[in-house]
Amino acid sequence: MAQTLHKYLNTIFTLFIFSSLHVTQSHEFSRKLSTKSLGFKKLKLTHLHFYFHDTISGDHPTAVLVAQAPTTKNSSTSFGGVFVMDDPLTVGPEPNSTLVGSAQGIYASDSLSEVRLLMALTFVFVEGKHNGSTLSLLGSNSIFAPLREMPIVGGSGVFRFATGYALAKTHTSNLTSLDAIIEYNVYVLHY
Ligand SMILES: *[C@@H]1O[C@H](CO)[C@@H](O)[C@H](O)[C@H]1NC(C)=O
Ligand SMILES: *[C@@H]1O[C@H](CO)[C@@H](O)[C@H](O)[C@H]1NC(C)=O
Ligand SMILES: *[C@@H]1O[C@H](CO)[C@@H](O)[C@H](O)[C@H]1NC(C)=O
Ligand SMILES: *[C@@H]1O[C@H](CO)[C@@H](O)[C@H](O)[C@H]1NC(C)=O
Repeated sequence: MAQTLHKYLNTIFTLFIFSSLHVTQSHEFSRKLSTKSLGFKKLKLTHLHFYFHDTISGDHPTAVLVAQAPTTKNSSTSFGGVFVMDDPLTVGPEPNSTLVGSAQGIYASDSLSEVRLLMALTFVFVEGKHNGSTLSLLGSNSIFAPLREMPIVGGSGVFRFATGYALAKTHTSNLTSLDAIIEYNVYVLHY
C-alpha cells in the first residue's frame, strides 16, 4: 500500500516537473535562432520598377483629403493637409498598363517652408510571385525635387526582413487637377 502510494506520488511529481518544464519553455520570452532554421537562406537584392498613379480629381479619386487645419487653405505649402490613398501601381506609365499592386496609406503636408509630404504607405503587390507580399515605406517626399529618396523600412511575404530605399521621379503631373504619375525605382535587401 505504502509502495503504491509512493509510486503514485512519484508519478505525480514527475508529471509536475515535466509539465512545469514545458510551461517554462512555451513561455520563453526570447531565444537566439539561426536565419536558416526559419528557412531564410540567402540575402538577396531586388530592384522593382513601377509607376504610381495618384488621382485626386474626378469622380473616382484614388487619393482623398481626409483632414486639414483651419489654416491649411491659406498655407503656401498646404501645411496640415492629410490624404489617404489607394493608388494603383503599374508596369508602364499608361493608366491601362498591367497592374502590379497598389500604394495604400497616408501622405500629409508637414513642412511650413516647402511642399514636402510625410509618406507612410504600404506597397501591396498582386503580381505573380509577389502577390500578397508588401513593402512598407516611411519617408519625406519633397515633391517638386527631380529625384526623391525614401526609406523602405520593412516588408512581408517574399519581402520579410526587407530594408532598402525608393527613388521617386515625377513622370507627369497636372498642376490644376493635382493628379500625378510617379516613376518608382525600389531597391530592397531581403531573404
Ligand atoms: C485666409 O486668408 C484670407 C485672405 O487673406 C483671410 O481673409 C482669412 O482670414 C484667412 N483664413 C485663415 C484661417 O487664416
Ligand atoms: C492602352 O490605351 C492605349 C490608348 O488609350 C492603347 O493604344 C493601348 O493599346 C492600350 N494598352 C493596353 C495594354 O490595353
Ligand atoms: C493573388 O492572390 C489572390 C488571393 O490569393 C488571388 O485571388 C489572385 O487571383 C492572385 N492574383 C494574381 C495576379 O496571381
Ligand atoms: C489638367 O487638369 C485639368 C483639370 O482637371 C484639365 O482640364 C486639363 O485638361 C489637364 N491637363 C492635362 C494636360 O491633362
